[in-house]
Amino acid sequence: MARRAAELQLLRYHNPGEIREKAPKDFVTEVDLLCEDLMVDAIRERYPEDAILSEERGGSVSEDGRTWLLDPVDGTANFMKANPMFCACVSVVEGGNVTHAAVAAPRIGDLYHASAGGGSYRETGGEEIPMRVSDTKKLEYAVAGADLSLRSGKRRDAGVEKVLSDSWQLRALGSAGIRGAWLAAGYLDISVGTRNTVWDYAPTVLLVSEAGGRATDLTGEPWGLSSEGLIATNGALHAEVLETLHGA
Ligand code: IPD
Ligand code: CA
Ligand code: CA
Repeated sequence: MARRAAELQLLRYHNPGEIREKAPKDFVTEVDLLCEDLMVDAIRERYPEDAILSEERGGSVSEDGRTWLLDPVDGTANFMKANPMFCACVSVVEGGNVTHAAVAAPRIGDLYHASAGGGSYRETGGEEIPMRVSDTKKLEYAVAGADLSLRSGKRRDAGVEKVLSDSWQLRALGSAGIRGAWLAAGYLDISVGTRNTVWDYAPTVLLVSEAGGRATDLTGEPWGLSSEGLIATNGALHAEVLETLHGA
């Protein structure tokens, strides 16, 4: 499903169609809606009993069954500008745990996927490569991914700012899905998210933990569907990141 949505994104690259500002600085394009329709129809056809929570249509989480979390285009602000950092994110949660996840980034040519207990993989050019987090041991040498607005007047978390300023370098990719997948692949050492958009963070939680890293909420508790924010690291950095976050 993630791959099919990503194929559609590629067909419509440079042609996002009608663009609407659904909230200030939060855009939805015609392609977001088409990708969402494609995914929802595929789930309804094969798993009619399952619950679906998707970014544009909403929905709900099942109390006792399976729920699909869909982000039809993650990185819409990039997609609108034909910036190649966008993807389709799909994850499945059951009993509060993320059991399956896929992030397909068509302009990069990668599909990242994981299943609980089954490992984390990057598919590229017909090859499937197991993913492993980096072995960076000190925050001072860490490359951290986060998307923050630097406009004045916006409230920013002092702890998050301290983690980023104590790290070596910052990458702001504009896609939470790609950021999490790149942590799993070892391209980044830390991923910080400060919101509660579960379709953005659920894939990171599974991709990273199956690749040997750790993902928690900002307090260090296991990440869950009602968490505010996500801290994901290669594992080795987790304690130092949480200490820095709380010391600020
Ligand atoms: C956004 C991107 C961005 C993150 C935002 C998300 P969208 O998703 O992942 O990197 O900073 O919090 O909302 O709106 O393009 O699906
Ligand atoms: Ca998103
Ligand atoms: Ca989206």
